[in-house]
Amino acid sequence: MNIGIDKIGFYVPKDYIDIVELAKARDVDPNKFTIGIGQDKQAVPFPYQDAVTMAASSADSILTAEDKKDLGLLIVGTESSVDESKSTAAFLMDLLDLPEDIRSFEIKQACYGATAGLQTAYDFVSNNPGKKALVIATDIARYGIKTPGEVTQGAGSVAMIISQDPRVLKLDHKSVYMTRNVGDFWRPTFSKTAFARGKFSNEVYVDFFQTLWNKYQAKYDVTADDFSTMLFHIPYTKMGTKALRTLEGKVSDAKYAELTKHYQASIKFSRAVGNLYTGSLYLGLLSYLVNAAKAGEEVLFFSYGSGAVGELYSGQIQADFEKVIDKKALQKIIDDRQKMTIDDYERIYQVEYQDGTIVDPKTITEKFYLSEIKENERLYKKLK
Ligand code: HMG
Repeated sequence: MNIGIDKIGFYVPKDYIDIVELAKARDVDPNKFTIGIGQDKQAVPFPYQDAVTMAASSADSILTAEDKKDLGLLIVGTESSVDESKSTAAFLMDLLDLPEDIRSFEIKQACYGATAGLQTAYDFVSNNPGKKALVIATDIARYGIKTPGEVTQGAGSVAMIISQDPRVLKLDHKSVYMTRNVGDFWRPTFSKTAFARGKFSNEVYVDFFQTLWNKYQAKYDVTADDFSTMLFHIPYTKMGTKALRTLEGKVSDAKYAELTKHYQASIKFSRAVGNLYTGSLYLGLLSYLVNAAKAGEEVLFFSYGSGAVGELYSGQIQADFEKVIDKKALQKIIDDRQKMTIDDYERIYQVEYQDGTIVDPKTITEKFYLSEIKENERLYKKLK
């Protein structure tokens, strides 16, 4: 049975900061941020937005009544959840008008969560032919103002419907994975911002890619020549470049040039949005589908989540993908945003809603929003 991604959509907050302006405000050479880190813009969510509202928005962009009827599984991958007990998935039931007879839950393993969700969805569809699964990646990457990680922040969500006879990407059901107890990045439950050993996290990420690539080649008897594209987890776009560079001199010059060209197409959206944590790899897939993908291409995916879990798997871009991927509409989501000043970003960053907060709907510019915190319970609404 062919199983994979039948639809994919995303949501990004409508406001962003310019990375050159951020560099200037931090007294840093802008080239460090635009070339050394590889970012141009960073999405900034409003306080009435969170992992729940962004997940609802990305899913709402692809879900039809027909999809909802066939849905049997909903998985949300996130490391920015709003509740230590209730899953982000449960909040979505009302916001998305989903039927009750589905299994739903949340997965947390840093930026690996959505890939765990995707592979679980594969097994679900394979065991329940005709049923569909909705997998959502949703996160707000926060390191804090004036920290080294600030330039690698961002926010957004990617939603995917996994089904039989997928129109976007058929998963090959070939993968290798690994887990190691590593202290490269963590966020204790008391903290809204992450802690990272930045340079060390880079080393672990690259080491995981090399280890898994060696495993993948040995397990499936393939080489780089079997793939036209490699997509990477991209917390910031220089990161994937570092993993890709490990292949330079080990594959033919022509293959390396092709992989590099395709990688450039896959990072266009991330350069403009920033870090989506677990959605980053899948924002890369979207960017590639919009900017360069060809039907029939074999694509290798490197998923990495600090702590740390890594997985390398492959898939094939399907003949009908252009019928499902509205390139103009997706590009418009990126282009139609507005720039926020660094002062406003710093002001919004500090806002923390307390119990008793009621959000005035007149101030809302999004379809889904946090409307109230009552008895410490977060309540959400959808603008009609
Ligand atoms: P830093 O200390 O600010 O920067 O930290 P740096 O000194 O390492 O410089 C960065 C790059 O800019 C270097 O290039 C410099 O040479 C270059 P590289 O050696 O990396 O190729 N540079 C310049 N280039 C041009 N013109 C200039 C210039 N100056 C310097 N004038 C760091 C950067 C990314 C470490 C920091 O932002 C950080 O700690 N970020 C958070 C951690 C992170 O993103 N790690 C990524 C790997 S771990 C991961 O992927 C997991 C994650 O997604 C979390 C999860 O799984 O949930 C993060």
